[in-house]
Amino acid sequence: MSAAHDAERIGPTAHYTAYVWHRLGLPYARHLATRQGAVLYWGFFALGEWTTRVVPGVPTMRGYLAYRHLLIDALVESLGPDRLVELGAGLTPRTLQWALDRDVAAVDIDLPAMIAVKRAALLRLPAPLRARAAAALTLVAADVLAPQFEDTLAEQLADARTPVVVAEGLASYFDRTARVRLFAAVAAALRRRGGGHFVVDLHTADAQAQVGGATRVLRQAIRMLTRRRHALDPFADLPALRTALLDAGFTDARRLQPQDWVARVPALARLHSPAHVVHAWV
Ligand SMILES: C[S@@+](CC[C@H](N)C(=O)[O-])C[C@H]1O[C@@H](n2cnc3c(N)ncnc32)[C@H](O)[C@@H]1O
Repeated sequence: MSAAHDAERIGPTAHYTAYVWHRLGLPYARHLATRQGAVLYWGFFALGEWTTRVVPGVPTMRGYLAYRHLLIDALVESLGPDRLVELGAGLTPRTLQWALDRDVAAVDIDLPAMIAVKRAALLRLPAPLRARAAAALTLVAADVLAPQFEDTLAEQLADARTPVVVAEGLASYFDRTARVRLFAAVAAALRRRGGGHFVVDLHTADAQAQVGGATRVLRQAIRMLTRRRHALDPFADLPALRTALLDAGFTDARRLQPQDWVARVPALARLHSPAHVVHAWV
């Protein structure tokens, strides 16, 4: 399947997640929520997502996304980046928040159509925020699977002392070949900068099997949102996932344990997900 074809299907999910970030009350998220996201969110709810909310033990789509987003936020916070780059950034409020509240140089990388949507949303910010966002948040239109992507990313990391690259809700949509290509480009670009961090959410077949029914509901949900006929293509287990990252050039990788982060983010005590948030570094 070509990247362009995949992107066509992944794109709408960025509107959906942006609306979820807004519903969760994340800082600045209301400025990035779109009408398309609202239509998807409520359409999906009406189609049956609400049933997950009344079945005990079944994570809701919103809870599943909150888990991933808040755990990534907690790690990024602890790493204290002076450059934050988000791949497949969509309409995430994270980079905007870091740019506005921490004055950290932040970069959103996504395909041209999504970058245009984000640019339009940033232009609708209240004037004082707009000027500060324009100064600290850079939007880059690029395909993370393109052969020259390593150079594109290395350019955005130039001069950073503690670069952090985030890929949220992106890698799991790619097949294995594409995923490995993405990992290798990120590891090489970080190495060229003298080291740095990569934070990514990924799935393993064994974790999905453990939550069984819950995963089925979520996978159906994701399939519906992305019009994807095939299931996601997870790694077999955590060792296989770590091996893929090491083979791609990372020094090491670890899966974040949500309980280690509850003191920092109390909401994590209530959230569950079959997805793993993984920290890899060079
Ligand atoms: C599920 S959305 C996630 C958006 C955001 N990270 C979030 O969590 O709200 C996936 C994003 O990846 C982008 N994307 C898909 N394929 C891409 C590619 N080959 N290169 C760059 N971005 C891509 C889509 O345009 C979309 O914005």
